[in-house]
Amino acid sequence: MTQLPPDSGRVALITGASRGIGFGIAQALVARGDRVCITGRNEEALKEAVEKLGPDRAVGVAGKAHDEAHQAIAVERTMEAFGRIDNLVNNAGTNPVYGLLSDIDLGVVRKLYETNVLSALGFAQRTWKAWQKENGGAIVNMASIAGLVPSPFIGAYGMSKAAMINLTVQLAAEMAPGVRVNSIAPAVVKTRFAAALYEGHEEETAAGYPLQRLGVPEDIGGAAAFLLSDQAGWITGQNLVIDGGIFLRAGS
Ligand SMILES: NC(=O)c1ccc[n+]([C@@H]2O[C@H](COP(=O)([O-])OP(=O)(O)OC[C@H]3O[C@@H](n4cnc5c(N)ncnc54)[C@H](OP(=O)(O)O)[C@@H]3O)[C@@H](O)[C@H]2O)c1
Repeated sequence: MTQLPPDSGRVALITGASRGIGFGIAQALVARGDRVCITGRNEEALKEAVEKLGPDRAVGVAGKAHDEAHQAIAVERTMEAFGRIDNLVNNAGTNPVYGLLSDIDLGVVRKLYETNVLSALGFAQRTWKAWQKENGGAIVNMASIAGLVPSPFIGAYGMSKAAMINLTVQLAAEMAPGVRVNSIAPAVVKTRFAAALYEGHEEETAAGYPLQRLGVPEDIGGAAAFLLSDQAGWITGQNLVIDGGIFLRAGS
């Protein structure tokens, strides 16, 4: 980033943000003057992402989202670097398994919940205690349309994303009035995570969407930035579906 906008004074911690949707959110926040701490497992990829965001405005902390020691270090490092954590984006998520729920290994589901759901709760507890409880702020949790409707072969992932939507309303009720908590449920967004869903047949897949294209990380970045802004000051406990209109096709 060549020209930095004036510092907004706001700080966000974004999990899983070295690429894809998390990076798109980091870009949207930095573009309006926020400072960000981004996480991810691969240290090199994180360094490159920090470089792109601007080392004055971003720091990276490598680790696995579900690891409580990593959660503590990420929160500590954000406070050290920037002195506050107004906003938290629980974006890190994974889908390590395809298959029917009636046949799935429970150990795999347990692990999926650790990464997709418990990590979000752990980070929320920590940013609440470190800053938000006393000073306010906002949280965005990354859900999915798979958390709203059944999706063939990714049932366990869908269950974890439904849990993110409920985590959102629970935290929104608990943390009001100081902290607003919302979730975002995207349909297919073009990232490495979702590549298997469209690569080699993108045009065909996009044709199923009323808006005739798949999502890109910027689509989610802008929405997250809005939910984390004062313009969304009366919005809490909501799940924002961002789906290129695909739900309009339900039933047809
Ligand atoms: N793309 C879609 O179509 C779509 C739709 C609905 C919801 N979502 C949700 O959006 C979120 C981001 O997905 P994406 O599509 O942007 O994926 P992505 O392009 O694969 O990016 C994932 C990011 O998270 C990091 N990450 C992955 N596992 C992690 C872990 N266990 N701990 C910490 N960081 C981790 C990755 O870096 P490292 O690999 O270096 O850790 C990377 O920075 C996920 O929660 C996903 O479920 C995506």
